[in-house]
Amino acid sequence: MVTYSGKAKDVKVLNDKEVQISFRDSISAFDGIKKEELPDKGITSCLTSVKLFEILDGYGFATHYISKIDETQMLCKKVTILPVEVVCRNISAGSFCRRYGYEEGIRFEKPLIEFFVKDDEHHDPLITESVAVQMKLVTENEAILMEAITRAVNEVLIKIFDLISLQLVDFKLEFGKTTAGQLLLADEISADTMRLWEKKTGEKKDKDRYRQDLGDVIVHYKDILARLNAIQKIPKYMPLSTVQVIIRLRKSVLDPAGEVIFRSLSRKGFNSVESTRLGKSAEIVFNAVPSSELQSEIEEISAKILSNPLIEDFEFKIQHHSEKNEKEYVEEE
Ligand code: TMP
Ligand code: ASP
Repeated sequence: MVTYSGKAKDVKVLNDKEVQISFRDSISAFDGIKKEELPDKGITSCLTSVKLFEILDGYGFATHYISKIDETQMLCKKVTILPVEVVCRNISAGSFCRRYGYEEGIRFEKPLIEFFVKDDEHHDPLITESVAVQMKLVTENEAILMEAITRAVNEVLIKIFDLISLQLVDFKLEFGKTTAGQLLLADEISADTMRLWEKKTGEKKDKDRYRQDLGDVIVHYKDILARLNAIQKIPKYMPLSTVQVIIRLRKSVLDPAGEVIFRSLSRKGFNSVESTRLGKSAEIVFNAVPSSELQSEIEEISAKILSNPLIEDFEFKIQHHSEKNEKEYVEEE
């Protein structure tokens, strides 16, 4: 069996479909320059990840997580990890402040999404979506879906941490692809991969305690886990995704309505108009989080219902609904 050893975890391939992820007691920062072994780090990170993956599963997110094997190991679906990490920021901190010179603690009006290349040699550089697509690290569809999923995860996690008096400052997600092409949330989601501040005091509870030598790292990691485990009811709400579909007549098809507009524009003196073609658009709201499955469903709807494939083409963009449009929380019975 092949085993890959990372900075804090080992991944053992069990078969074609499954891997076993083991969390060690290692902690590291600054691309591994600073590292240490901290007792109970493995258990706390594993159990926090298990808890958060189970919560996300419950909301319908597609994740690699299958089950907990024991306190330091999870059974997960085997995926190929995409070479791009997605960071979502609600409040300025960390590399954002270092890169641009802004102070820590600025609340963003709209959560910021950043892509980073997984490339230790170049210190995981920030990358634009267009470079990531151009260099074939991800497809355009994957980039759009990764952003929509990350925004939806952010809204869920903000609410979960708010219940336990913690502020979600930022977090990092990794995505993997199954052999069938399904995009799954992968890796871990723990105090190592997010920033959490105590709501009342602003005290740091996450890996910044280690990066900044604030001490009591595992005490705070354990406290986060204990608070997560103490949540009695996970709030239920309807996650929504909005999709804009644009349907166009194929280039080879005559468009008399577009022609009429063109002639009318020419008559009225709009001489810079070279041609016009009419299309249609549809906005569809789904009561589901963004996912590969949803993307396939939209493709089917667009091809079979919204367009006539003989004469029309379509394209679509999947977006996570912003919070204010979401249906109200429904209390779990
Ligand atoms: P950053 O401010 O260092 O860019 O980190 C943003 C968030 O992403 C923070 O919560 C830590 C997390 N993160 C990781 O989990 N792994 C990484 O390699 C990096 C760079 C960040
Ligand atoms: N550079 C990242 C951090 O400081 C990851 C790492 O090197 O462990 O968290």
